[in-house]
Amino acid sequence: MTVKTSEKRISIKTYAGVNPPKNIPRQVADVHMKTFTGFFLTFLGEGFLAHLYKGYCMHSQSGLLVAVEEDRVVGFLAYSKDLSEFYKYILRKSIVPFAWYSFLAAFRKPSSIIRIFRAFLKPSESKREEKYIELASIGVLPEMKGHHIGSQLVNALKEQFDSEKFEYIKLETDAVNNKATNHFYVSNGFKLANSYETEEGRKMNEYRWNNEE
Ligand SMILES: CC(C)(COP(=O)(O)OP(=O)(O)OC[C@H]1O[C@@H](n2cnc3c(N)ncnc32)[C@H](O)[C@@H]1OP(=O)(O)O)[C@@H](O)C(=O)NCCC(=O)NCCS
Repeated sequence: MTVKTSEKRISIKTYAGVNPPKNIPRQVADVHMKTFTGFFLTFLGEGFLAHLYKGYCMHSQSGLLVAVEEDRVVGFLAYSKDLSEFYKYILRKSIVPFAWYSFLAAFRKPSSIIRIFRAFLKPSESKREEKYIELASIGVLPEMKGHHIGSQLVNALKEQFDSEKFEYIKLETDAVNNKATNHFYVSNGFKLANSYETEEGRKMNEYRWNNEE
């Protein structure tokens, strides 16, 4: 799919249940590092992120949507139709590299150890009764923001939504100091479903979308 957004020719490529070209997870990790400065996953480093995003491509129930301008990755969206299974899969498949990157992170900042252990407990936390698609991560290069690349990625995910199989697409984002991102989801048709606080005291908003309206 190629779309011209504000004079930018962007194609959206989907990698789902496939081994992606080597440069794709690396470029996505690079966009993540530039987009999510100061976040926990960014702190674990580019090598960790490349393994994680390769995992989204390879897991049969997950996928990676990539926005490309010419040959350059300018944005991405990672999703999973079974997040709990995805975490189990990625831990099984990449336990050695993940342990190594976690060790390096804990070495750089010992207080991060508790956060790392909590991240490894994610499989059980993310289990829900109903079937939904998790929008796990979305990012657009800072210099490419505001050209509707993020919206194109969200629309590509919405195209995969089958209301006979899933109840909603869901995501979580910071509730505080994050007005632009909350606005982005609302303007893309997502509705606030829940607000809560994590064990670290982080206030979060959960948004949902389905194609009923
Ligand atoms: C959120 C993000 C993916 C949006 O991507 P984008 O390509 O810039 O977004 P779009 O151009 O598609 O914006 C669509 C709408 O969102 C809103 N929006 C996007 N960025 C905004 C900003 N900085 N301020 C206010 N509204 C904004 C606008 O309403 C816009 O629609 P409109 O111009 O038609 O009114 C991108 O800004 C990003 O990577 N942010 C940092 C990472 C992040 O926070 N990811 C989400 C974590 S849950």
